[in-house]
Amino acid sequence: MEFTVHLMDLISLPVLLKLLAVFLIYLVILSGPRNIPPGKSKWNLIASFSFFTNFFKHQEATMQRMTSKYGNIFSMYMGNQLVVFISGYDNIYQVLVKQADVFSDRPTWLPYIKQMTKIGQGIIMNDGYSWKRLRQFTLQNLRDFGMGKSLNEENIFIEIDALSKALTKKEEAVEIKPLITCAISNVIHNVVFGFRFDYEDPEFLDIINTLNDIFRHPGILNPFDYFPLGIGGLIPRAQQLREQRKRVLTKLQSYVYNQIEEHEGSYDPNDIRDFVDLYIKASKEAKEAKDENDVFTKGNIFRVICDLFVAGSESTSTTLDWAFLYMIEYPDVQKKCQQEIQEVYGNKQIKYADRDKLKYVEATLMEIQRCATVGKVYITFKCSACYQKKHKTLKGYFIPENTVIITNLESSNMDSKYWDNPKEFRPERFLDESGELVRNPAFLPFSTGKVCPGETFAKMEMFLVVTNLLQRFTFYREREDCCHDLGRRCASTVQPTPYKLRAIKRT
Ligand code: HEM
Repeated sequence: MEFTVHLMDLISLPVLLKLLAVFLIYLVILSGPRNIPPGKSKWNLIASFSFFTNFFKHQEATMQRMTSKYGNIFSMYMGNQLVVFISGYDNIYQVLVKQADVFSDRPTWLPYIKQMTKIGQGIIMNDGYSWKRLRQFTLQNLRDFGMGKSLNEENIFIEIDALSKALTKKEEAVEIKPLITCAISNVIHNVVFGFRFDYEDPEFLDIINTLNDIFRHPGILNPFDYFPLGIGGLIPRAQQLREQRKRVLTKLQSYVYNQIEEHEGSYDPNDIRDFVDLYIKASKEAKEAKDENDVFTKGNIFRVICDLFVAGSESTSTTLDWAFLYMIEYPDVQKKCQQEIQEVYGNKQIKYADRDKLKYVEATLMEIQRCATVGKVYITFKCSACYQKKHKTLKGYFIPENTVIITNLESSNMDSKYWDNPKEFRPERFLDESGELVRNPAFLPFSTGKVCPGETFAKMEMFLVVTNLLQRFTFYREREDCCHDLGRRCASTVQPTPYKLRAIKRT
């Protein structure tokens, strides 16, 4: 009572009311927008820091823990940045297809993206007109398979022969992943620059290692990037990560720019050799047409090339790594694939155009992709932001402007509403009673809506590598009594824990 009297003596009632109003407004601002998807509070800094650091290494376990606590749509704050995670096919379809126009922007304001796109805009971390145009250009050239002389099936056959030779040379059990990485990186390198490397070439191995440095990085979900007022930059680890990114980009840029300059010197419009030639052609045409919105700049094409390597090489080689692991762990499946190949082709070379004849093999490849879902959330998963800086609602939740939205494709490939016993590896789930392929809408290895532009290309590589190698070799575990637990580890992509296999030449 005495205190109230004293307070009223000191502050008049209107001032007190004003202070109260300011305090209430402050509380509302602090508590953030209401009715956003459930999750940890903005002020639980420790929880969110530990979520994002755990998430990098144990993506699946962390996602499972959060979805069982908060449901298939939940949110987390990284500093001031709201991130909403979407799981389950129905929700993913809602975001990427039904409300695609609303959630199609990329969070280009994020520090990681800003740094990665300083030199130019590519596809993965871009949006707006230049994203559309560069994506269209790349998609058309990948889909039509029309990237000059260097891109055709022959390209892939050269790598299959090189792989076979390398496998035949090894007498003991071998880790197949490094060989596959060389083969798939070579296919893309050949498509882009018009030549390939020997697998042991130090320059080639150096490029692969440099690219791997990008994968090792936590990407857009690096918690250090989200400290307010640039405090993150003062933390040695954050500084180190930024410097590392800078080094990687500078190195790649110098390699790509050298290649572009060499191409410019020998460019002939009547002899388009590869992707770089196609870019030079498009750039000259844009200049001749005085196109004000010309997107074919050196910096942009550098980013597109990085995207092709980053998105195209590691995801395909990791899926193939899983494919050979499933073959050795499920020898009956391997045998059935080989029988089908034998019946249809005998010893003839297997072409992609004839894939319809190999239904069981196709079903097996689909099941491998479903079970593997190699893309880590922040590498190949859709990451979008609200369109035109407008607030939107999603399934009854309020989504404020500039929210990062991450869809978890693995949750669709394992959605028990759409898959019977989803954890079980069973290629037959993709075949009907008459042996025809059946489609399941929840099968999303390449996402949905605006899907991966390299889908056809990747499918061709995977089909040709697996079938042609199964025709030549039978694959066995390193030791018959020692099985692999099909354990997954989050590295550059979601990979199997390392394993070795024996490749025995078929007679
Ligand atoms: C098994 C192999 C592959 C898998 C599983 C895969 C998966 C994906 C997924 C899930 C996305 C995100 C799509 C979205 O935005 O919703 C994506 C994007 C992308 N992929 Fe692939 N991909 C593979 C191979 C390739 C290949 C071979 C290339 C090119 C040579 C490629 C190029 C790209 C590019 C450029 C993007 C970015 C598209 C954009 O942001 O608009 N991918 N990929």
